[in-house]
Amino acid sequence: MTAPPAPLGLLAELTHRCPLRCPYCSNPTELSRASAELDAATWGRVFREAASLGVLQLHLSGGEPAARRDLAEIVAHAAAAGLYSNLITSGVLLDAARLRALAAAGLDHVQLSVQDAEEASADRIGGLSGGHARKLRFAAEVREAGLPLTLNAVVHRQNLDRLPALIDLALQLGAGRLEVAHVQYYGWALRNRDALLPGRQQLDAATATVAEARRALHGRLVIDYVVPDYHAHRPKACMGGWGRSFLAVSPAGKVLPCHAAESLPGFDFPNVRDTSLAEAWSGSEAFGRFRGTDWMPEPCRGCERAEVDWGGCRCQAFALTGDAASTDPACSLSPHHHLLDLAVREAAAAPPDFTYREMGAKAAV
Ligand code: SF4
Ligand code: FES
Repeated sequence: MTAPPAPLGLLAELTHRCPLRCPYCSNPTELSRASAELDAATWGRVFREAASLGVLQLHLSGGEPAARRDLAEIVAHAAAAGLYSNLITSGVLLDAARLRALAAAGLDHVQLSVQDAEEASADRIGGLSGGHARKLRFAAEVREAGLPLTLNAVVHRQNLDRLPALIDLALQLGAGRLEVAHVQYYGWALRNRDALLPGRQQLDAATATVAEARRALHGRLVIDYVVPDYHAHRPKACMGGWGRSFLAVSPAGKVLPCHAAESLPGFDFPNVRDTSLAEAWSGSEAFGRFRGTDWMPEPCRGCERAEVDWGGCRCQAFALTGDAASTDPACSLSPHHHLLDLAVREAAAAPPDFTYREMGAKAAV
C-alpha cells in the first residue's frame, strides 16, 4: 500500500465540557469527563508529532476549549511546535485578560460561534441566558487584542431567515470571514433533526442571499457556504476524504479521521497515550479502512466522482443506513437517497422543540 499523503490539519478537541447546550452539537454521544482529558504536556507532544508529520493548521476545539484553565499553556505548546493555531470558541468563558494571555502565548486566529443574530433566539438555541451579549463583547475584545476573527454561524430552520442579519453582524463585529455552516446531522443534531432541517424554499432564499452578499461584499468579507446534505444531489468530500488530509484527537486521546467517528461501531481507534500520531496516521487499521477507493461499494466503485467526493461522509452513511461502508445517502445515486427527502418532509410538520446537549445523557448516533 502506498504511503498516505501528509495531513494538513489537526483538530484538537481539548474537552467536551461546555457551558452551552446547542441541540446541533456534533460531539459524540458519549461525552468525555474532565478526569479523562489529556494534560497540557501530552498535547504539547501531540503538537510536535503533528508538525513533524506535516500538519500546518491546528484547530483548538471542544466542547468549549476555554473550559481548560491551562489553555494558554496549550496554545504556547502549539506556537513552539510551529503550528498555526485557530481557537474555535463560544466566547462566553473568556475575558479580555485571558484573551491577551492567549495572544501573548502565540494564538493566531479566533473563530467565534454565534447561534443567531437576534438575542432572545440565540440564547434559546444555545441554551444559555446572556450568552449572545457576552459573545458580542468577546468579539470586540478579539479585535482589540489584534487577532483576526472568523464568525461561525450554524444555520438551520429556526435561524436561517435571519441570514441577512447574520451577515450584517459579521461586518459590525469586524470579522474577515463568515462561515455559514448548515447543521450536520450526527450525534445530538440527529436527535434534533426534525426541529432543525430547513425546507427547500427557505434554503433557496438563503443561497440567493449568500450569492448577493458575496457580490456586494467582495474584498470586505469572505463568506463560506456549502449547500446542506439533505438538499444535495452529490455528497461533500467529508474531511477531504477519510484519512487523506485531516485528523482529530479526542479529549481522552483517541486519534480519529473526523470529529464524529468515535460514534462508529467496530473500530479500535489508536490513542496518543500509547501510539504516535505518525503510527496512527500511516499504520492503523482504522485510518486505512476507508482510505482511497478500494473499500467502495456500488455505485461509488468506478464512479467518475470517486476521487472527488470519496463516497461522501462515513458518519452520515452510518447514521442513515446503519452501514458506515455504504454510499453516503446525500448522493442521488445511493439506493438510500429517498431517506433524505422523507426526513425533510417529516421535519416540515414537526414542532420546534429541542433536546439540549447534556453531559451524561445519550443522544442518537
Ligand atoms: Fe460520489 Fe459515490 Fe455518488 Fe459517485 S456514487 S457521486 S463516488 S457518492
Ligand atoms: Fe465522520 Fe463525515 S463526519 S466522515
